[in-house]
Amino acid sequence: MKASPLFFKTQFSSRLINLIFISSSLGLIVYLLFSSFSLLPNTRILLLGGDPFSSSTSLDHIVFGIASNAKSWPKRKEYVKMWWKPDRMRGCVFLDVPLDNKTASYDASLLPPVYISDDTSRFRYTWRGGLRSAIRVARVVSETVALNHSNVRWFVFGDDDTVFFPENLVKTLSKYDHELRYFIGSSSESFIQNRFFSFSMAFGGAGFAISYPLAKTLAKVLDSCLERYPHLYGSDGRISSCLAELGVGITREPGFHQMDMTGDPFGVLAAHPMSPLVSLHHTDYMEPMFPNMTSRDSMRHLYKAAELDPQRILQQTVCYDRWFSWTISVSWGYAIEVFGTHVLLPDVLRVPATFQPWKKGNVLNSLFSFDMREHNKDPCRRPVVFHMNKTFLEGDQTTSIYRMMKRENCTADLGSPRRIRMIKVHAQKLTLNLKQLQAPKRQCCDVLPTSRQETLEIGIRECHEDELIHMPRLYLEST
Ligand SMILES: *[C@@H]1O[C@H](CO)[C@@H](O)[C@H](O)[C@H]1NC(C)=O
Ligand SMILES: *[C@@H]1O[C@H](CO)[C@@H](O)[C@H](O)[C@H]1NC(C)=O
Ligand SMILES: *[C@@H]1O[C@H](CO)[C@@H](O)[C@H](O)[C@H]1NC(C)=O
Ligand SMILES: *[C@@H]1O[C@H](CO)[C@@H](O)[C@H](O)[C@H]1NC(C)=O
Ligand SMILES: *[C@@H]1O[C@H](CO)[C@@H](O)[C@H](O)[C@H]1NC(C)=O
Repeated sequence: MKASPLFFKTQFSSRLINLIFISSSLGLIVYLLFSSFSLLPNTRILLLGGDPFSSSTSLDHIVFGIASNAKSWPKRKEYVKMWWKPDRMRGCVFLDVPLDNKTASYDASLLPPVYISDDTSRFRYTWRGGLRSAIRVARVVSETVALNHSNVRWFVFGDDDTVFFPENLVKTLSKYDHELRYFIGSSSESFIQNRFFSFSMAFGGAGFAISYPLAKTLAKVLDSCLERYPHLYGSDGRISSCLAELGVGITREPGFHQMDMTGDPFGVLAAHPMSPLVSLHHTDYMEPMFPNMTSRDSMRHLYKAAELDPQRILQQTVCYDRWFSWTISVSWGYAIEVFGTHVLLPDVLRVPATFQPWKKGNVLNSLFSFDMREHNKDPCRRPVVFHMNKTFLEGDQTTSIYRMMKRENCTADLGSPRRIRMIKVHAQKLTLNLKQLQAPKRQCCDVLPTSRQETLEIGIRECHEDELIHMPRLYLEST
């Protein structure tokens, strides 16, 4: 097709957007159309609504800086191994002191290179009972920048127990123009943590990203900032304060997760916001994500699904079964909740309170910054939970299987979701374009006619233009 780009703009630009939604098999055509606009940069800006180059941000453009110490690294590196791709990623780990030679050489090829942080004894640290390593960890930012990597768009920082979902990190950052000054991350889920530390801070454990030009400037001035904040507790407070001095505030992305909670993280993972999952944190402080598995095996299990369809992992879709009046909430690749009754959508989307506050004692500690719903004390009165058992990919179609892993001693009457043995979910591999990332839209699901009471089959698909995700009318009439 040799038509001029302008022709395409006037004739096709609005339909082009529709095409993207209609079928991802047209993805190649769409891609070709987009690339044909490269002759006319303005047209591309118009279509992509932002920086013409960010659409091609890839892992190659990111440099990671991970803060650890020689004591915790031997354990925590097992988490880093789950997401680190040695041949495809750039970055480093900063430790306080060198590892012994045996530890250092054992699995070095699977991990980022290790650097030893500069001495920070010249800086004051006055938070009583805090750890002065906060200064060293804050300087991971400037020391990572000082390694002079080339062709960098973003620097991404995290703790040794921050696990990233790299494809989703790239997707999320690709929404932003890396030539502007961005500081991207998230607050804590815990109200009291935010109130105590700051609502305008990106919490370090969730990980945060700083665009190249901002990181360069920050690296230059950080030491002078550190002099002014000896009274702060952590490294993240120091970074946020210095960026505030540079006039830059946080841009929040809900895919970064500090996970300031203990107990069963189920609720947060089952009712994820409509945004690609970028990071998780504090896994060692919570119960394993999957019953009957260790924390590490749980994380590996989740990564298996995430590798198949990274953008869909934890994305929530809700459908209603008419026959048994069930409400089915799928958190793709992780778990499915089946309510024995019909529940209004906004109530399903609330986070079930399966976890406990990070700190106990004060009632304020139990306040979280999202909508929650009760987690009944009686397990028999909770929705029935099916955890992901396995996932597989055929072409661009995924099938994921969910089973009841935690068997409660409850009666299972005829029509009870406890009689379900297995749930099979069919979905198309998710490939979000820039528009879809900017204006997220929940997908729809259907209980497929192939379903039987013991084997429920669910199909996930894009919703129709004006489709409502709602309880069937049938139910309303019968009550
Ligand atoms: C560790 O390795 C370094 C360099 O490879 C060497 O100089 C040093 O002697 C080694 N230390 C021990 C305790 O083996
Ligand atoms: C990085 O570049 C700066 C300025 O050009 C230079 O002073 C420094 O030595 C370089 N660092 C490395 C690790 O090459
Ligand atoms: C998946 O289900 C099968 C059959 O119930 C079971 O043997 C297997 O252990 C399960 N795997 C996981 C990872 O839960
Ligand atoms: C999980 O472990 C419990 C006890 O540790 C056991 O009773 C139960 O059968 C196990 N469930 C599965 C699905 O393996
Ligand atoms: C299950 O509950 C029934 C009735 O409440 C009780 O008789 C039975 O002992 C329980 N079984 C187990 C394994 O707890």
